[in-house]
Amino acid sequence: MNSEFDLVVRNAQVATASDTFLTDIGVREGRIAQMGLALASGRREIDALGRVTTPGGIDAHCHLDQPIAPPARMTDDFESGTRSAACGGTTTIIPFAAQHKGATLRAAVEDYHRRANGRACIDYGFHLIVSDPTPDIIANELPQLIAEGYTSFKIYMTYDDLKLDDGQILRLLALARAHGAMAMIHAENSDCIAWLTQSLLDAGLTAPRYHAASRPMLVEREATHRAISLAELVNVPMLLVHVSAREAVEQIQWARNRGLKVLSETCPQYLFLTAEDLGIDDSYEGARCVCSPPPRDTASQQAIWAALADGTFTIFSSDHAPFSFDGPHGKKPDGEEVAFPHIPNGIPGIETRLPLLYSEGVMTGRISVNRFVELTATNPAKTYGLHPRKGTIAIGSDADFVIWNERPDDPVALTNAMLHHAVDYTPYEGRSLAAWPAYTVAGGEIVWDGERFLGTPGRGRFLARGLPTIVPGRPAERAAR
Ligand code: URP
Ligand code: ZN
Ligand code: ZN
Repeated sequence: MNSEFDLVVRNAQVATASDTFLTDIGVREGRIAQMGLALASGRREIDALGRVTTPGGIDAHCHLDQPIAPPARMTDDFESGTRSAACGGTTTIIPFAAQHKGATLRAAVEDYHRRANGRACIDYGFHLIVSDPTPDIIANELPQLIAEGYTSFKIYMTYDDLKLDDGQILRLLALARAHGAMAMIHAENSDCIAWLTQSLLDAGLTAPRYHAASRPMLVEREATHRAISLAELVNVPMLLVHVSAREAVEQIQWARNRGLKVLSETCPQYLFLTAEDLGIDDSYEGARCVCSPPPRDTASQQAIWAALADGTFTIFSSDHAPFSFDGPHGKKPDGEEVAFPHIPNGIPGIETRLPLLYSEGVMTGRISVNRFVELTATNPAKTYGLHPRKGTIAIGSDADFVIWNERPDDPVALTNAMLHHAVDYTPYEGRSLAAWPAYTVAGGEIVWDGERFLGTPGRGRFLARGLPTIVPGRPAERAAR
């Protein structure tokens, strides 16, 4: 029998950012070719009867094989990281190509292509990290890279080897405005952190839990306000990454009420962890949950949930930063327990991002499934120039989707052994999950069938991205405002 489609998903309860409807999905050559009921046959078929089907997740903030100062080394490369992503329902990632001070952005991009090429199991683009915005980089290199499809870049307000001063940030925001790129800002006040860190160390307070004490909510609030003010001065949209705290959310809402185009992102760690996960005593176990900004308190968790539901947040990303707990390259540099400022920052979460939000957000009724799609796929695609190829289920879009297995009466207790990353722990060990992907389909290929990873390293393609479309108006019109 001749099949009209490569793959047909039958009777899917499709949820997009705006609608929920019953349909078959016919896939040809990696794209969605037809939708409607009673489609012709496919070479492969999946019966999705009764199952919610959402666009493949886009993890718009994750770190894989990112070169950093030794002995720290990221545990996931593009192969293990994208395998893990696919098993958790993510079909596109946008990690970071980081410029080293004194080197060019071009060198970072070329290095990162070498790391990804032939290894990635799902499609990928690169954000840039600008750590040394020389006049030549601002005038020539960065505009050229934006034109080639690297249409977003991250600006750090903290970390000695990455942070920029306000003048440098203003110049980069002006460049984002002129070229229609998206600036992503890590907002924490570096001098406050340095002063608090020294005070804690002087008092002999070195355990992992003091990482949270060295970066209190005020530090994020102040930098968030400053980032908003700098963007207001330049009159450019920008996105605040990994927002963790109630008072930072208040700053974003204040900016929105003034009509400013401030976009924002949060991550699972700010919903499911608190500062207590870094330790209630001086045990080193809490090093597992050291990330920046640090997890806060239950009031901030509630504020983050409310801001996910009410539309304040634009994007929900993992900020997967994979360091193993044991061994010489992770949370114990050279195998040693170290004072908190020397613990590599970041936690794993590329595979658990979608199941956690689906279980605790959608299945509990905190957010609708359509809002889930908006946060995890559609808005990331629009913010970073991938829509409508990615981020939705529509004719002509890439055939990237997740078919969900909802099990409210038979939840699964998460263990690290269930995951496919190369990290030796998950911060969410033991957490009950009421949903997990039954299938992940990427470019029309079944890459996860609920039990096995079926993808292949190297099948993922590099995505040269367009300009952001999430803020109304073309870049030239925006610049004229
Ligand atoms: O602690 C974190 N978030 N590590 C990853 C780097 C960053 O700032 O996103
Ligand atoms: Zn950051
Ligand atoms: Zn990050």
